[in-house]
Amino acid sequence: MRYLSGIQPSGILHLGNYFGAIRQHIRSQEDHDAYYFIADYHALTTLKEPEKLRGYVRDAVLDYLALGLDPRKAVIFRQSDVPEVTELAWILSTLTPMGLLERCTSYKDKIAKGIDADHGLFAYPVLMAADILLYDAQRVPVGKDQKQHLEVTRDIAQRFNHMYGETLVVPEAEIDERTALVPGIDGQKMSKSYGNTIEMFATEKQLKKTCGKIVTDSRSVEEPKEPEGNNVFELYKLFASETELQDMAARFRAGGYGYGEAKMALHAKILEYFGTARARREELAKDPGAVEAILRDGASRARAVAQRTLERVRRAVGLR
Ligand code: ADP
Ligand code: TRP
Repeated sequence: MRYLSGIQPSGILHLGNYFGAIRQHIRSQEDHDAYYFIADYHALTTLKEPEKLRGYVRDAVLDYLALGLDPRKAVIFRQSDVPEVTELAWILSTLTPMGLLERCTSYKDKIAKGIDADHGLFAYPVLMAADILLYDAQRVPVGKDQKQHLEVTRDIAQRFNHMYGETLVVPEAEIDERTALVPGIDGQKMSKSYGNTIEMFATEKQLKKTCGKIVTDSRSVEEPKEPEGNNVFELYKLFASETELQDMAARFRAGGYGYGEAKMALHAKILEYFGTARARREELAKDPGAVEAILRDGASRARAVAQRTLERVRRAVGLR
């Protein structure tokens, strides 16, 4: 089964990205034909600072490798290293109804937040469809927020096949319903665009500072507290064993246990959980040449598949 997914390098990756996406990506390399890419063309819709973009791409690759993505098992590449995707996006855009894109909530949300819309932002789901269809992907593991984009992709693929004959593989989304939305330090969905993230590769000191900023109510240490629903406890759930969780819950309920202490426990857990990955990342960062070679190899493997699909598409629509 071919798996494919992408992640935007529009900021530093965080716990939400890890538990909501990256962890599933890395798991699927074990028994699937897996393709993962850093969606730098997509990031351009929101990030117009070249140096930052380059930096975030580098960081995202290091993060994936450090977290366990194995380039011998999965293909990892940079989206823009396979420019064929933009040609496919154009062809697909000629059969994508405006209404389909106008209904996309991620676009509507950005508009509602006052972000000036350009054509790229509007056409974003078409490029995403091209990403998926170019590689004949069968399964696309994504977070819940991407469900609609996958429906758009399926719709476009079906339209194409209907108009030009069976050419494209219609993919399916794989949404891990067990991964609840990871809350940010303010309790809203953790997201780069809300400035409420916890970054797993931040320095120990930064991480401590971020944990300290997790929003809680102002009850005193002495007061008994209901752990369910409090941000620190919700985040702790991602890391702790059942016993550790019960233990923290009991302390909160008994009183005499403050948020400060719980935040320290969370901080220690994050460091422990990502300990190996943090050390590995430090090593990898020392060898940018090796990382670049991994990307080059990934691009050439991805490109071979892309060129075959694009040829099929060109022929189907009459460009050849
Ligand atoms: P961000 O909101 O920080 O910009 P992206 O939209 O780039 O994150 O998301 C990348 C991947 O991480 C997507 O598959 C998305 O579903 C997942 N993801 C992002 N934030 C969360 C979260 N808070 N909880 C669970 N999954 C998340
Ligand atoms: N839009 C996705 C996100 O923000 C990233 C992405 C781009 C993607 N192209 C993709 C995900 C193709 C899966 C498949 O998370």
